[in-house]
Amino acid sequence: MQAFNAKMCRFFQTLWPAEEKPIVLGEGQSDHPPVMLIGEAPGEQESLQGRPFVGKAGKNLDGFLEVLSLNREDIYITNVVKIRPTKVSEKGRVSNRPPNREELALFTPYLMEEILLVQPQMIVTLGNVALRSLCGTKAVIGDMHGQKALVTVRHEKQEATFALFPLYHPASIIYNRALQEVYQADLQSLRALLYDPR
Ligand code: URA
Repeated sequence: MQAFNAKMCRFFQTLWPAEEKPIVLGEGQSDHPPVMLIGEAPGEQESLQGRPFVGKAGKNLDGFLEVLSLNREDIYITNVVKIRPTKVSEKGRVSNRPPNREELALFTPYLMEEILLVQPQMIVTLGNVALRSLCGTKAVIGDMHGQKALVTVRHEKQEATFALFPLYHPASIIYNRALQEVYQADLQSLRALLYDPR
């Protein structure tokens, strides 16, 4: 993992100096964890603290872990894009934006390599961006959430098939009660799969 992270940092720091866009690396159990959680991209707190899913997103993660009876250290947590995508308003206010096509194209091969290194028992994607980085741009979270699928991951000459469980992105359900219920039901299905795989 260390060599992979060093290689990735070397490459991306040629594009974005670390002081400008710190790279937020994946963290946690990197050897065959029960779950590899893949988010979209770091937000402000993640970028400041240099860790994925802290701040507001970390609160969502706590709920996720509680339902699954897992600790943060038991799983591997990462993002598709490992720098914070930002936009600047006319007044100079910096805010998050979704990763653009160029960022996704640059980071996705690294994510594939990361998955093949980690060899998770189950990949859990949060939202459309993470789902599409694995299943292609036509995949839709509304059709695939809450069910186990299989995904084949390729990088250079390596290839392996993994169990995939897509979830809605917690940020997308904050203002939508109906989706909150769906998300909770999906989490229960994931729990059942993790503890009673068939
Ligand atoms: N924080 C992250 O690290 N990833 C997300 O997808 C959202 C918030």
